[in-house]
Amino acid sequence: MADRQASVYDIVVLGGGAAGLMSALTAGRLGRRVLVVEHAERCGKKILMSGGGRCNFTNTGTTPAQFLSANPHFCKSALAKFKPTDFIDMVDAHGIRWHEKELGQLFCDISSKQIVAMLLEECAAANVEIRTGCSIESVTHNTVAFAIATSQGHFASERLIVATGGLSIPRMGATGIGYRIAESFNHRLVPTRAGLVPLTLSGKPLEQLADLAGVSLPVELHCGRQSFTNAMLITHRGLSGPSVLQISSYWREGQALTANLLPDHNINDLLAQWRATRPDAHMQTLLSEVIPKRFAQRLCELSIGNAPIKQFGAKQLSDTASLLAAWPIVASGTEGYRTAEVTLGGVATDGLSSATMMSKHLPGLYFIGEVIDVTGWLGGYNFQWAWASGHAAGTAA
Ligand code: FDA
Repeated sequence: MADRQASVYDIVVLGGGAAGLMSALTAGRLGRRVLVVEHAERCGKKILMSGGGRCNFTNTGTTPAQFLSANPHFCKSALAKFKPTDFIDMVDAHGIRWHEKELGQLFCDISSKQIVAMLLEECAAANVEIRTGCSIESVTHNTVAFAIATSQGHFASERLIVATGGLSIPRMGATGIGYRIAESFNHRLVPTRAGLVPLTLSGKPLEQLADLAGVSLPVELHCGRQSFTNAMLITHRGLSGPSVLQISSYWREGQALTANLLPDHNINDLLAQWRATRPDAHMQTLLSEVIPKRFAQRLCELSIGNAPIKQFGAKQLSDTASLLAAWPIVASGTEGYRTAEVTLGGVATDGLSSATMMSKHLPGLYFIGEVIDVTGWLGGYNFQWAWASGHAAGTAA
């Protein structure tokens, strides 16, 4: 129940991250009286740490195909109504310089602090009130309004936007409270798991690679029907790098992974050419020209052998080609939420309107950003989802 002393707002937004701030400034601009409740001492901590401090704030090639969800169509409407160009317009209006790194990924030239400052300035201009260091104690609803009890008092509003993010990087303020609020209002949850996360190896596979920690090479990594071509990095605990982070969102425990170690070559042609033109060269020497030397050496020690290539018969050459095209990886797990960039799963989309993000069970209740079962690839897609879903709810609420 909203008690009599509660401060009343049109909209209370729980969580002052990417999605929460975008929904707040959008609603504020439309004349709504908005309060943002953020339990950390400052807003937008994940924005600050993102993109190596330069925030990969969007991807110009964003389409629904880069998102994982039990319902791949859910994200379409919000993404169509708030595009990367809409966010770029805001960035440009604030004079924030940016550049494209690769594959449509846009980064600040200077610092991700500029993105947080921009969002806070826009909130201030739209008269949004922000309370940081404010913990949520309970959220209830009577027939008219939501009552939010916090460490800084009681608030009431007819609309409540839940933007509390996922479970990744708990030390940055992730709590999972959004899931509990969703369940308390009869929303179904899709089981959560860590995404965009390094994979771990154990036992023999780890022993065979751990001393190569730091070695990085471009690969085409396959898991089921999904594949990503980008760098793979060997770490002390297993494998990381963009291709591994991307595939981790698709990988399930026990599933087979393979890496094409020469994604830029026709492997059969390359081996045949080497055999014809440099028959006395050792396999390790040849492979070291196209794969980092230490990794090539380990491959030869473990599986390929290191004789002059002329001594490789047809079967041995074809086995070598197969190994290079589909090097098997036996991952034992992931590094979990401690290092994951995102949380897969969350509030099931079948309980939400895809146009407004509003609950189908309780009018006035909205979920946006990472708390929903919509997760993007690495490369600025997750922020674009935060902006787009935040804009959808902020416009509708
Ligand atoms: P977000 O987590 O941003 O915000 C949730 C807010 O709710 C937080 O401020 C939190 O403190 C607050 N909160 C939680 N519990 C609360 C409670 N009980 N009471 C009050 N407040 C509470 N994406 C991308 O597109 N490009 C990139 O470069 C990166 N880089 C990146 C790096 C790292 C290290 C991480 C961990 C993640 C990324 N991401 C990314 C992912 C991106 O940060 C993420 O998808 C968005 O921040 C999600 O936005 P949300 O607003 O939904 O959650």
